[in-house]
Amino acid sequence: MDILLVGSGGREHALAWKIAQSPLCDKLYAAPGNAGIAQHAELVDIEADDIALLLRFVKRAGIDFVVVGPEAPLVGGLVDECRTAGVKAFGPDKAAAQLEGSKAFAKDIMRKHSVPTGGYQAFDRAEAAKGYVSDMQPPIVVKADGLAAGKGVVICNSHQEAGEWIDTMIIEGRFGSAGSRVVIEEFLPGEEASILAFTDGKTIATMPTSQDHKRAYDFDKGPNTGGMGAYSPAPVVSDTIYDQIEHDILIQTVHAMNIEGKPYRGVLYAGLMIEDDAPRVLEYNVRFGDPEAQPVLMRMRSDLLPVLLSTVDENLDEQEIEWDDRPAVCVVMASGGYPNSYKKGYPIEGIDEAEALGDVKVFHAGTAEADGQTVTNGGRVLGVTAMGDDLTAAIERAYEAVEKIHFQDAHYRRDIGAKALD
Ligand code: AMP
Ligand code: GLY
Repeated sequence: MDILLVGSGGREHALAWKIAQSPLCDKLYAAPGNAGIAQHAELVDIEADDIALLLRFVKRAGIDFVVVGPEAPLVGGLVDECRTAGVKAFGPDKAAAQLEGSKAFAKDIMRKHSVPTGGYQAFDRAEAAKGYVSDMQPPIVVKADGLAAGKGVVICNSHQEAGEWIDTMIIEGRFGSAGSRVVIEEFLPGEEASILAFTDGKTIATMPTSQDHKRAYDFDKGPNTGGMGAYSPAPVVSDTIYDQIEHDILIQTVHAMNIEGKPYRGVLYAGLMIEDDAPRVLEYNVRFGDPEAQPVLMRMRSDLLPVLLSTVDENLDEQEIEWDDRPAVCVVMASGGYPNSYKKGYPIEGIDEAEALGDVKVFHAGTAEADGQTVTNGGRVLGVTAMGDDLTAAIERAYEAVEKIHFQDAHYRRDIGAKALD
C-alpha cells in the first residue's frame, strides 16, 4: 500500500524507519519530512498542519493510508477529512483529539470518569482565576487550555507569579486563542513517566514505559524543551504500578471516551506523576511522544504497520506485538541556544560513524539537505538512540555515538538515563 506520513521530527523519522521496513509498504511519502526521513520516503513539500493541501495530495497520489505524527493535524481534523474521502488514517478524529486539544476537556473527562488526576478548575475570566488561586498554596500550576507547542504550562512559586501568568494568557493573549481559557491545577509532586498504548477503541495494547527529560540542562535545570532525551523502560513503573495504570487510567479513559460518544483510536499517551506508588495523570497526548517514540519504537520487534492499521480496522486484538527486552536510550543533540533562538544551516558530520558502532540508530529531527550535505535545520537536531544489555550499556553506547557526531554549537545533556540508575 501507498502511505503518507505526516510530520517532520525525530518521532516521524522513527515511524518512517519502522514503516519502511514493512513488507506491506509499497511506497512511503512524508510531508514535509526531514533529511533522515528522506532515506525512507519521498518528501512532499506540505506543512503538517495544512490539512487542505494534505488532503489534496492524498487524493491525487491515491494514498491508501495516512499516518499522522504530530497533534496539530489531529486536533484540526485531518483524520475526519481522510475518513470522509474514504482513506484510512491513523490517529484519533477531531472530537477524540480534544483529549490533547483542550486541557479543560481532558480534566473534565478524568473527573467525570474517575481517572486519577490532580484537582483543577478552568476559567475564561482572569479575575475569577485569580480569586481561585488566592486560596491555593504555591506552587500553582497555570496552563493554557489549548495547543501551545509545549510552552503553555507554568509552575508558579507565588500567587503574584500565578496572577501575572493568568493575565499573560487571558488578557495579553500570549498564546492566542489557546490561552483565552486557563486551567489552574493542583501541583503534583513525584516522579514522571510516560505510558503509551495503541487502541482501536475496544482493546488496548500497552507499550513499554518511557521517560522524557524536559529541561534543557543537566540535573533538570534550565527552561522546558520539547524533550532532550528519553529512555525505555522507566524503572519507576513497577509491574504493579504498570497494571494499575493499564486498568485505572488507559482502559478507563478509552471506556470514558466511548461513553462520551467520542470513541478514541490511535495512540493514547498518558503523562503521569507517580508518588508513593500512586500514578496520577498530568496530561494526555493523542500521538506518540517525541523523543519517547525513538527508544520505544527501536525496541519494537514486530512490524508496526499492521498494528497501526488494526487500530483503524478495529482488530487490534488479533495483533501480537513483540518487544525487545533490552533497554534503549535516546540522547537529543540540539542547536546551541535551543529552546530560545538558535542558528540553522550548520553541516553535520559523523552520523555514519555513530551508526557503525552497532545497536545505534540516529533519528533526524531538525535536519535538511543542502548542497549534498546534511545540515541543522531546527532546535532539536538529532535523536541518537542506542540499545544495550542493560541501561548502563545503553547509556554508554548512546554517548559513544554522540561523541562521533559533530556540528557547530551542538548542545546535549550528559545525564540522560542517570535518574533511572539511582
Ligand atoms: P504538560 O505539558 O501538561 O505535560 O506539562 C509540562 C510539564 O509540567 C510536565 O511534564 C510536568 O513536569 C509539569 N507539570 C504539568 N502539570 C503539573 C502538575 N499538575 N503538577 C506538577 N507538575 C506538572
Ligand atoms: N515528549 C513529550 C511530548 O511528546 O509531548
